[in-house]
Amino acid sequence: MSLSAQLKIRSAQSNDALCLGALATQVFFDTYATSGINADLASEAKQNYSEEVFGRRLASSEVSIAVAEVGSNLAGFIDVQSNSICPVSSVFGPEVLRLYIQSPFQRRGLGQALLKHAEDGAQSQGEKAIWLTAWVGNARALAFYPQAGYEMVGTMEYIINGKTYENYVFSKRLHLRGA
Ligand SMILES: CC(C)(COP(=O)(O)OP(=O)(O)OC[C@H]1O[C@@H](n2cnc3c(N)ncnc32)[C@H](O)[C@@H]1OP(=O)(O)O)[C@@H](O)C(=O)NCCC(=O)NCCS
Repeated sequence: MSLSAQLKIRSAQSNDALCLGALATQVFFDTYATSGINADLASEAKQNYSEEVFGRRLASSEVSIAVAEVGSNLAGFIDVQSNSICPVSSVFGPEVLRLYIQSPFQRRGLGQALLKHAEDGAQSQGEKAIWLTAWVGNARALAFYPQAGYEMVGTMEYIINGKTYENYVFSKRLHLRGA
């Protein structure tokens, strides 16, 4: 059966928290721990990707998480925070906090499908723009977002355990429905 026949994009539920934590941990290390594990990366993953953290995010009215399910397994997710403040002061709207596709499913359209789902959700809430940050060394993300209509609008510093990592800020205008 083709991937598209098995793929379902749906809102995450509270009982997805365990698998979301595992998936996020795996994709985070695959993406950022390419020269081995250090304490910064290990503590970042431990703090952000536990079942408990995802359980709390799923219970929050400020958070929308959607998953890409292939068969009965999770292959990716998108996590959107509605009340984040963009470091580029002219940009307002929800933040795509994480878009993570498991490595065997990358480059098969899942990222694009999840991003569209999030953009449609934001648009239906009346949002005019959506934004995100991507590490300057994340080549896949830097290739992906511009082709999805995102424009680089600035930079920001992300700090892990006192060390600074430079990120680009990307945003996309959402067209008003019917306009
Ligand atoms: C970045 C990421 C979300 C992209 O998702 P994806 O499902 O692999 O991307 P898609 O298949 O939807 O790609 C759509 C288009 O984006 C571009 N693109 C995506 N990945 C690319 C890559 N590795 N190199 C070059 N272009 C790429 C291509 O134009 C692609 O279209 P094509 O395959 O028809 O050429 C995914 O690689 C990922 O999860 N990476 C690890 C986590 C991460 O870095 N997340 C983003 C943090 S900000």
